[in-house]
Amino acid sequence: MNTETIQTADLKTQLANLLSGDLAAVNAILRRRLRSSSDFVSDITEHVSRFQGKQIRPILLLLFERAIAGHSSECGKTLAAAVEMIHTATLVHDDVIDEAETRRHVATVHRRWNTETSVLLGDYLFSKSFHMAASTGDAEACRLIGLATDRTCEGELNQTAARLQRSKSEFDYFRIIRDKTGQLFGLSCLLGARSADGSLQQQRAARRFGIRLGLAFQIADDILDLTETASSTGKDEGNDLQNGRLTLPLLRAFRNASEDEADELQAVLENDADDRRTALNAAPCVQQGIRSAQQTALELVQRAKNDLAFLPDSAERSLLHLIAGFAVQRQH
Ligand code: IPE
Ligand code: IPE
Ligand code: MG
Ligand code: MG
Repeated sequence: MNTETIQTADLKTQLANLLSGDLAAVNAILRRRLRSSSDFVSDITEHVSRFQGKQIRPILLLLFERAIAGHSSECGKTLAAAVEMIHTATLVHDDVIDEAETRRHVATVHRRWNTETSVLLGDYLFSKSFHMAASTGDAEACRLIGLATDRTCEGELNQTAARLQRSKSEFDYFRIIRDKTGQLFGLSCLLGARSADGSLQQQRAARRFGIRLGLAFQIADDILDLTETASSTGKDEGNDLQNGRLTLPLLRAFRNASEDEADELQAVLENDADDRRTALNAAPCVQQGIRSAQQTALELVQRAKNDLAFLPDSAERSLLHLIAGFAVQRQH
């Protein structure tokens, strides 16, 4: 086994030891909240709740709560279910926008049913998550959730604008991923620290950690879109390419390329050939772009890890370190 495999195995064991009870409770809340008397609605919500993802956002929330308070609370578990449901809602809508075929190894909602169903299901999940968060009676948590969700949607909107303008600006890229991914990560960590009654300093550090981790997580996702197979990610290969999205590895490829290489790269990107991804990966400037993006993700994770110094030394804090490493070394 290589170091990466050992670390992933370690992560899984520690997660099972520390959080299996909490996560089972969160999933029970999700199932209960999604119950409906309509067979049709139950069928679709069954589809999105049966095929779970990595659940990294509720895991972060629960770990921050446990690291500071020493235990998790009912309110924390409900908020963890709410952030996971918001995340699922964004994915259901994102898959319509990206015309994706596969999510979590199964057909996307709009493939299995239709776009109308996806749009309505996404709305339904957003509304259910706000309702669920409100049931905790914590008005400030609801305000924070509303704020982060606004920013997530703004990120998706700005991403559309960047694609239409064919933006090659790293400034635009970072602003977009900070919103579309960083905000929900930051929110999850902050809500965990708040549920634990953490100090203001701990709450701020938790949010900063989450945002930086979210940025690194999205950069890693953008690299996987170029390099990994569908069987490992459970998503379409090269979906960003298909949609003309210039993500960090490609922005860096352009930055490193000579004029001729840049023209070639542009030609490959504009060509709809089946082997486009293979052709791209064969270009030295793209390989260099991938390495450079990986380096940036690693640096962000390193900076994120520094914020964990505000937490008490605990098994939860060690696990947060491992998760931060996983975010940039994962294959799915
Ligand atoms: C996918 O998020 C969307 C991104 C922010 C890259 P995840 O990778 O957390 O998706 P699941 O929930 O594990 O499927
Ligand atoms: C993340 O972007 C989407 C959201 C934050 C809603 P991607 O479009 O890269 O996510 P995947 O690759 O479809 O999971
Ligand atoms: Mg997508
Ligand atoms: Mg992606």
